[in-house]
Amino acid sequence: MKKIIFVCLGNICRSPMAEMMMRDLISKSRLNDDIIVESRATSDYEIGNPPHPGALSELKKHNILVQEHHSEQITRNDFDTADLIIGMDHQNIDDLKRSAPSADVNKIHLAFESVNKNKVIEDPWYDHKFDRTYRQLAEVLPKWVDRLR
Ligand code: 4NP
Repeated sequence: MKKIIFVCLGNICRSPMAEMMMRDLISKSRLNDDIIVESRATSDYEIGNPPHPGALSELKKHNILVQEHHSEQITRNDFDTADLIIGMDHQNIDDLKRSAPSADVNKIHLAFESVNKNKVIEDPWYDHKFDRTYRQLAEVLPKWVDRLR
């Protein structure tokens, strides 16, 4: 059993979208029993809050199963139990590397790492471009499924 945790700043836009899209992908690849998918925030800004309505409607538009979710900040236990910790942008990666126990730093990766090290899953918080978030995640998530196979 492998565990992957997607991380963004607030855990209400990008990382819950990544979590639910990844669950959809692993279920289609019949890997449900092999991979655990979760998501977390680097910040405490949105703790307890549900995903942004724009994120939920984008998921529904693509027939992705929307599950109950409330923002949680990443913890020491998450760093210990994850196999892969995937940040959406460079700020996420810097924040994660600063708070990770040194033994777990090598679990931290940028979502676009294997495609383009300079590319990021852009934050839809200000411009509400959730279609861009969906498109960018749809490009990178199959690569993480392959990595976990
Ligand atoms: P996310 O988006 O990191 O993709 O969940 C954001 C959510 C909240 C804030 C910023 C980005 N905020 O500043 O509260």
